[in-house]
Amino acid sequence: MWLQLSLTAAKEQAPLIEALFENMGALSVTLGDAGDEPILEPGPGESPLWRATRVTALFEGDRDPDQLRTLVNQSLNADVSRQLRLERLEDQAWERAWLEDFHPMRFGRRLWVCPAGRRPDADDALILELDPGLAFGTGTHPTTALCLEWLDGADLSGKTVIDFGCGSGILAVAALLLGADRAIATDHDPQALEATRANAGKNGVASRLTLLEPDQAPPVRGDILLANILAGTLIGLEPVLASRVKANGRIVLSGILTAQAAEVSRAFGRHFGMLPPQAREGWVALEGVRLAG
Ligand SMILES: C[S@@+](CC[C@H](N)C(=O)[O-])C[C@H]1O[C@@H](n2cnc3c(N)ncnc32)[C@H](O)[C@@H]1O
Repeated sequence: MWLQLSLTAAKEQAPLIEALFENMGALSVTLGDAGDEPILEPGPGESPLWRATRVTALFEGDRDPDQLRTLVNQSLNADVSRQLRLERLEDQAWERAWLEDFHPMRFGRRLWVCPAGRRPDADDALILELDPGLAFGTGTHPTTALCLEWLDGADLSGKTVIDFGCGSGILAVAALLLGADRAIATDHDPQALEATRANAGKNGVASRLTLLEPDQAPPVRGDILLANILAGTLIGLEPVLASRVKANGRIVLSGILTAQAAEVSRAFGRHFGMLPPQAREGWVALEGVRLAG
């Protein structure tokens, strides 16, 4: 058994509450969104907080709840401390608990993303083994799913695929499993490059993958470039992305909200013939064919 304490506070107060819980002997302290304010893509090393932040601390189960409550009451003003919530949690196999929510998932006709040790019941399944980690990209998010489905439907044989903003490397690894000759992956977050390297190794495709820092130009232009990043970033990166795709090559852009599709299409229309968007759960993916020149 564990004791869990949680408090919701304005973001300015959250670090103080975090420090208080640590001083009280918490085994872990977690900060999360207490409202509905998604922070979509913080830069590397940034840890922005939410306007209403929930601070949750875990204590050994034999700690005295009354003593913990008293310490909080003595340290914080009454408006904040009266919101303290205290719960007892059953112990469980925490390191695999996420598996209950993460099942084999199919994208398109034959591509499956599966946690380690799990197999779908399908004879022709092409399996990408992936456990959730620190970098973005498991397939559960619609923006990744749109890219994976596109890859499953594409003819990749003999192709070089660039995965720009690779996160976990899921798109590069999927492209290689689906028959691409070579993949080039890049991300400005070093943790993403590390995760991509590990996931390529786990799936036996590391020898066909090149990892690059974002400012390193790839050795060749791609036949296909996928970038699942937010709309504003994509628009800013348009000249760089366009320079990395061969004439008649394809670009697939994801991470775009439906309302932003026209603006992104317009920006990429300078170098690409843009096709109609594919939509899913409020997000769209755009595809373009690189114009010569
Ligand atoms: C939404 S995740 C996508 C991860 C994965 N490709 C997928 O489809 O699930 C976006 C990734 O782009 C990276 N990124 C954002 N801006 C970038 C930039 N300007 N240059 C390189 N990488 C960037 C982030 O670090 C993050 O790993």
